[in-house]
Amino acid sequence: MFLKSLSTALVIFGAIRSAYGASTPKKRATCAGGQTVTNEACCAWFPVLEDILPNLFDNECGDDAHGALRLSFHDAVGFSPSQGGGGADGSIIVFSDTELTFPANAGLDDPIDAEVPFIQAHNVTPGDFIQFAAAVSLSLCPGAPQAGFMMGRPMPVAPAPGPDGLVPEPFDNVDVILARMADAGGFTPTDVVALLASHSVAGADTVDPTIPGTPFDSTPSVFDTQVFIEVQLRGTQFPGSQPGQGEVMSAVAGELRLQSDHLMARDSATSCAWQSFAGNLPAVHTAFTKAFNKLAIIGHDPANLIDCSDVIPAAPPLPANAGPHLPAGQTQNDIEQACATAPFPTFAAQPGPATTVPAM
Ligand code: HEM
Repeated sequence: MFLKSLSTALVIFGAIRSAYGASTPKKRATCAGGQTVTNEACCAWFPVLEDILPNLFDNECGDDAHGALRLSFHDAVGFSPSQGGGGADGSIIVFSDTELTFPANAGLDDPIDAEVPFIQAHNVTPGDFIQFAAAVSLSLCPGAPQAGFMMGRPMPVAPAPGPDGLVPEPFDNVDVILARMADAGGFTPTDVVALLASHSVAGADTVDPTIPGTPFDSTPSVFDTQVFIEVQLRGTQFPGSQPGQGEVMSAVAGELRLQSDHLMARDSATSCAWQSFAGNLPAVHTAFTKAFNKLAIIGHDPANLIDCSDVIPAAPPLPANAGPHLPAGQTQNDIEQACATAPFPTFAAQPGPATTVPAM
């Protein structure tokens, strides 16, 4: 059933790509719903958008939005010039029998199960859908930047190589993660830190499986810079009864800290970039968007894709009272200064008893 739909998608996309590919001059068009796009082929994505906002994401920056964002990374990063893999090609769905056995992909069965019916219903390629859904998921998270979207990824031909190696793990050290990201897509250390802003709308189900849905910061339903602030605080506790693999102590009750995030905030290669994003949402927007748009097309020649960014909605702004802060109970002395060239910015603590973050 799924394979039949996929082959139909392949035929349709082949036709669209030859009709509207980058070699064809841009043709501004008004879609059936009245929206204006720079390329007529992009009109096909509005019905997908109108379907997934309520029916995949419940119109909220919740579990399904977070899962779609993580899925886009794990599909895209499955590429290496020396080891192979197709990058952002949908192989994580089409070859899920293989890729979901990779330990780094634990927990991605949920977003895949959620997305497959929409891929079938709309006859789009899994590679395109995964990246489209991720860009749309961000539009539901207040404070998030407007991601781009390119269409035209063909069907994947093989699973990403594994089981270990291509997808970074939370117990990998900074050198390993930076080397992997440079290999996958030429990402700089600052690009990698910027991409980790996604952990602002995120948490873990599988790191400590006894406490699924444990967030990485105190505000997992808005895209802000709290993760850059809170991960820099001295860790004092684990949210569960014992740490999971790749977990270190967090500063705030109910919050889970990945060892990889902790080390990124403290390593000399990344700590100043990390600190530069604390409290500076405009800087995160610029750096995140650049790196995220690059991630979304790993394995593809952009000349063969069509820019449909005009289909992606803008996210609402952060609520007025959602400025950068220290969680209640923390002080500036709890910040573990790591960047050698500039002091960590100063933030006021929220009033009241020490913050406890509820599960998502
Ligand atoms: C580069 C190093 C990275 C490491 C080591 C890492 C590791 C992890 C781990 C261990 C989890 C928890 C999974 C679970 O137990 O459910 C997680 C969640 C998540 N990650 Fe990352 N990640 C990295 C980069 C990224 C990037 C680049 C993105 C997106 C662009 C991303 C997006 C997310 C999201 C949205 C979640 C939350 C998923 C949910 O709540 O369902 N991560 N990450």
